[in-house]
Amino acid sequence: MLINGVETMAILFLKKGRRNEQYIYSYLYLSRFDDFIISLHATGGSMKKNRPQAKIKDNGLFYYWGPLLFRITLSPEDIQALKNVCNEARLEKKDHRKELVGIIKEELLINSEKYTEIVKPYLEKYQMTYQNFYGKKLKHIQTGYVWVNYMKKGEFNPPHNHIDCNLSSVLYLEIPPGLEKENEEFIGRGFGPGSIHFMIAGPQPLYNNSYIFKPKVGDFFIFPWCLTHTVAPFKCKGTRISVAANFTISEMGKDGNLEIA
Ligand SMILES: [Fe+2]
Repeated sequence: MLINGVETMAILFLKKGRRNEQYIYSYLYLSRFDDFIISLHATGGSMKKNRPQAKIKDNGLFYYWGPLLFRITLSPEDIQALKNVCNEARLEKKDHRKELVGIIKEELLINSEKYTEIVKPYLEKYQMTYQNFYGKKLKHIQTGYVWVNYMKKGEFNPPHNHIDCNLSSVLYLEIPPGLEKENEEFIGRGFGPGSIHFMIAGPQPLYNNSYIFKPKVGDFFIFPWCLTHTVAPFKCKGTRISVAANFTISEMGKDGNLEIA
């Protein structure tokens, strides 16, 4: 029998007499709070209290923690514009491999001014997210090296991070058509052919310490320079074209106007 209300208890007190007085007094004291439910055992008239269920005022909170891994989607027009910049780089043949860790045959520097002009609107979106995540405003973003990776079957990027910058990034202009099927047929428990794996140190209990993505054309990731990442090889035909860029950022400004250069 469940009782919830002072009036009901007062009636019971009259019926049961003083034997239950201490329980009744306890109940009357506790009933100042709205949410107590007291169960009463009919036999013997004794009452047994369940643990009170307090009102919970919100749904709980969690805190942004660790590196900001930002992802946004490029428009088809911007994808094409970036492809054009990469095609120009192929003619110029500015080999960038000596600065990189990739086991990739074709990694070329591209024009950073043209690149920056195209990605500027996305960096402005990044600024808003940066403010939400870190509680600070970005004042200035300066593009450093920008390069294109033409990754073919058997090639890969071992775990690495980017130096001489504050932020790094990668975006995708082309994914081999057969890569999706190759992933479906992949049996292992690893992160799958052509995937990118971001990781923070080693595994920790109850930590989300890694994110794995099977990139799609137009995916654009921005992340802190020290966030380790690696790319798995694949076996299918075609070229996985990605553009990486490093950025330096200035101290936080007092206003929200972002300067991008
Ligand atoms: Fe990288």
